Amino acid sequence: MALEGRTAVVTGAAQGIGRSISEILLKNGAKVALLDVAEATGTTLKKSLDGQYGPERTLFIPCDVHPQQQFTAALQKVVETFGHLDIFCNNAGIANENDWEKTVSINLETSKRSGYGVRFNTICPDFAKTDILNCLDSTATLGQFAHLADPTRKFVEQHGLLDVSQVSEAFLQLVFDETKDGASLMVLLKGLQYYTSNFLEWSDI
Ligand SMILES: NC(=O)c1ccc[n+]([C@@H]2O[C@H](COP(=O)([O-])OP(=O)(O)OC[C@H]3O[C@@H](n4cnc5c(N)ncnc54)[C@H](O)[C@@H]3O)[C@@H](O)[C@H]2O)c1
Repeated sequence: MALEGRTAVVTGAAQGIGRSISEILLKNGAKVALLDVAEATGTTLKKSLDGQYGPERTLFIPCDVHPQQQFTAALQKVVETFGHLDIFCNNAGIANENDWEKTVSINLETSKRSGYGVRFNTICPDFAKTDILNCLDSTATLGQFAHLADPTRKFVEQHGLLDVSQVSEAFLQLVFDETKDGASLMVLLKGLQYYTSNFLEWSDI
């Protein structure tokens, strides 16, 4: 298989988009280190994946990617266990407008802190059907943007949601396509669209 012998790390792997990306990587032959702060969900997922792929194909590390020490220790464990690291998927995320600095740190800065990267890509999905959208039901997480909850719900009702498999399939396409270094891939309800470093240059697939 195409990714046989490759090792991937997926953060926020216990559920949602991260779980779907972990599964598509496993299906294509990679070994996957699953990092997540949700220990119970991650342990249950690891057990289920052991049954499907064998215990040696995955490693679950309970880990909060926010403190640098925990994150670095987790990456060291991955390299000790699998010998090397080829693919890093910085997926873990929260949606909390009242603590935007932590949100930015978890959602964006973790990839910078990983210190890994020869090819670098960003994937930007439309709204996808996962638990993170529960933030729309809580003023505690929406903060000053609480007034946007209803318009967002209406938008979702009108346009629909992506399935997580559409995001993980797009992720796999980026992994396989070595010509797209530096590109951002928008996963839109209407299809995939690359956004290159040239701001004027949009290219449909
Ligand atoms: N679902 C959407 O509509 C959507 C759209 C665009 C981008 N995203 C991004 O996709 C990513 C995945 O989100 P999702 O929709 O699957 O949400 P989700 O809530 O279903 O999954 C997020 C996962 O990240 C884990 N996580 C959160 N904070 C963590 C931390 N500090 N350390 C380790 N793990 C942590 C959670 O435990 C959970 O398993 C997020 O970065 C999110 O911002 C989601």
